[in-house]
Amino acid sequence: MGKLSLWSFFSEQGRYLPLPRESVDGKTVVIAGANVGLGLEASAHIANKGPSLLIATCRDAVKCDQTLEITRVLLVLRERYTGTQPASLDSWPLELSSFDNVRSFVDRFDAEGPERLNILVANAGTFRPVYTRTQDDWEVMLQVNYLSIALLSILLLPHLLRSATCDDPSRLVLVSSLGHYLVEPVLTGSRNWDHVLGAISAEKFGVSGASRYNLSKMLQVAFVRELAARLPSPTPLVITAVDPGLCHSSLQRELEKYCLLRMILAFVKWLLCARTSEMGSRNLVYAALATNAQDLHGKYMSSCEVVEECDYLLSAEGKAFSERLWWETIEMLSKVDDRVSRIVSTYLPAR
Ligand SMILES: NC(=O)c1ccc[n+]([C@@H]2O[C@H](COP(=O)([O-])OP(=O)(O)OC[C@H]3O[C@@H](n4cnc5c(N)ncnc54)[C@H](OP(=O)(O)O)[C@@H]3O)[C@@H](O)[C@H]2O)c1
Repeated sequence: MGKLSLWSFFSEQGRYLPLPRESVDGKTVVIAGANVGLGLEASAHIANKGPSLLIATCRDAVKCDQTLEITRVLLVLRERYTGTQPASLDSWPLELSSFDNVRSFVDRFDAEGPERLNILVANAGTFRPVYTRTQDDWEVMLQVNYLSIALLSILLLPHLLRSATCDDPSRLVLVSSLGHYLVEPVLTGSRNWDHVLGAISAEKFGVSGASRYNLSKMLQVAFVRELAARLPSPTPLVITAVDPGLCHSSLQRELEKYCLLRMILAFVKWLLCARTSEMGSRNLVYAALATNAQDLHGKYMSSCEVVEECDYLLSAEGKAFSERLWWETIEMLSKVDDRVSRIVSTYLPAR
């Protein structure tokens, strides 16, 4: 069953993870949230595998420039021992707390990008301990970690599907978290909510920042399951949710502003055998490249293996929740951008 156990957690955390041997020769790859942490490490790994174009996204132009420099340095260092050709690298701004910004990114891809997009790694994510709303009036983790990632994925779906085949499918990887196993208690009574997204975005939902973060990650897993179920089998687009494990990164930067909390977090991460960002990023690279693609479709992965998602999502109640969430998400995002409803009716027939 899909449960989090201490034994499996510790045995996985210490595991050495493989880097897939597959190349991305001639492919276009987009990695969202690539200036630091797992996204930066995944970008360097994938850039090293010879894509025709890698677009590493960051929140603003300054971070884009810095990321290009750092990725090139990492690439040069790694190239010394792999001997591959340098990839064509670019970095475009993408700010997920604004739907307009997501739309602009896709407009730019339509106008300037290649026709095909082979791999999208939706890695960007945020953790905010204090309740905050975006300019679009959604709770910030709900929008950044779920709604904008869903919008980006759907708007780029035609590019991902164009020219992909079941033998050489495109990949969509959403970076979720093992925290998604912990959300069931906060969804008690959700059957009676008038509107799921509205209910969990509201301040009066009254749960901690950590619970909101975990919930946003669970919504990603539900989205992956729903989206995957609407594509044919075998599929030309393989969609996977990935847990990178507990890793050292700047994800907890809001807490680490405080000296005492920084020390406590450092101790907890040491105690829990946190992975380096580089080791954690291998999960993303594996999901994006591994050859057994069809086996990964609609699945949740941890330590480069398919594992069961939380019990709640596998239950009848969780399945009903996921389907409701899907339609609410599509309805809401269709108001943000009318391409969403067209893409859904063209490419994703109702089950
Ligand atoms: N580290 C872990 O233990 C762990 C465990 C499970 C899952 N994850 C997930 O792994 C992914 C990568 O996290 P990380 O650990 O590498 O953390 P990180 O070092 O903080 O990196 C997060 C990335 O997301 C970007 N981002 C944050 N808010 C954004 C926004 N509003 N719009 C666009 N981009 C935004 C960040 O950009 P800025 O630097 O400009 O803010 C950064 O590039 C996240 O989805 C996270 O939830 C991490």
